[in-house]
Amino acid sequence: MAKSEQAAKTRFPAGSGLCVVPSLLAADFARLADEVAAVEQAGAPVLHLDVMDGHFVPNLSFGPGLIASLRPLSRMFFDTHLMIDEPARYAPAFAKAGSDLITFHIEVAPDPQAVIAAIRATGAGVGVSINPATEVDAIAGIVDAVDLVLVMSVWPGFGGQTFMPEVLKKVERLRGILGPHQRLEIDGGIDHATIARAAQAGADTFVAGTSVFRAADSVAAWRELTHLAEQAAGGVVQ
Ligand code: DX5
Ligand code: ZN
Repeated sequence: MAKSEQAAKTRFPAGSGLCVVPSLLAADFARLADEVAAVEQAGAPVLHLDVMDGHFVPNLSFGPGLIASLRPLSRMFFDTHLMIDEPARYAPAFAKAGSDLITFHIEVAPDPQAVIAAIRATGAGVGVSINPATEVDAIAGIVDAVDLVLVMSVWPGFGGQTFMPEVLKKVERLRGILGPHQRLEIDGGIDHATIARAAQAGADTFVAGTSVFRAADSVAAWRELTHLAEQAAGGVVQ
């Protein structure tokens, strides 16, 4: 694969701009195919997939089998958020299942370069995430080597938690560090009341679980959140 094709595959789809990314965790698991189709038809280019191991976080969600089942049903870019120990060990299974980008947590990666290399070897894009208590300095040495940085705005493990505004100073700092082809994602408690502050701080990618899939109309909710983010960023598509 040529280097330019590789880059195209590992990055969010061209033209994603400010991007509200529905999180499958809050969807109705008995109607997953319909839930995914609804946000895809609305125009969402990316789907967020939360993987939990009951160890790094105190909850369990789903694994590569579910992602593989959804893969033939959707053309969306699959943004997989690994909240698990040993991300390098499991990355190949998630890439094989159809993940386009795989994010690991710096808190479980004593050798982050090795994790990045393991994910890159699968052909997927690479993201790194920091918990609310983890400082930007923890990823300073590797930030140039990733496609995406994910700032957690709740403690990972559960949907429906309250947004933690104190993490926005980390978003502001990262905005000044990341290059134009790197995504700055925020995850947790993003809704109509919080998305503007996240956009003003410099986030370009907004994970939204409860506020999309638990809304009466998930398509209308996704569109409204996208509008609010664009408005807050001054209509400038980054
Ligand atoms: C939390 C997950 C989130 C979760 C967000 O550990 O990483 O992606 O789905 O859910 P909401 O949007 O409900 O806070
Ligand atoms: Zn997530």
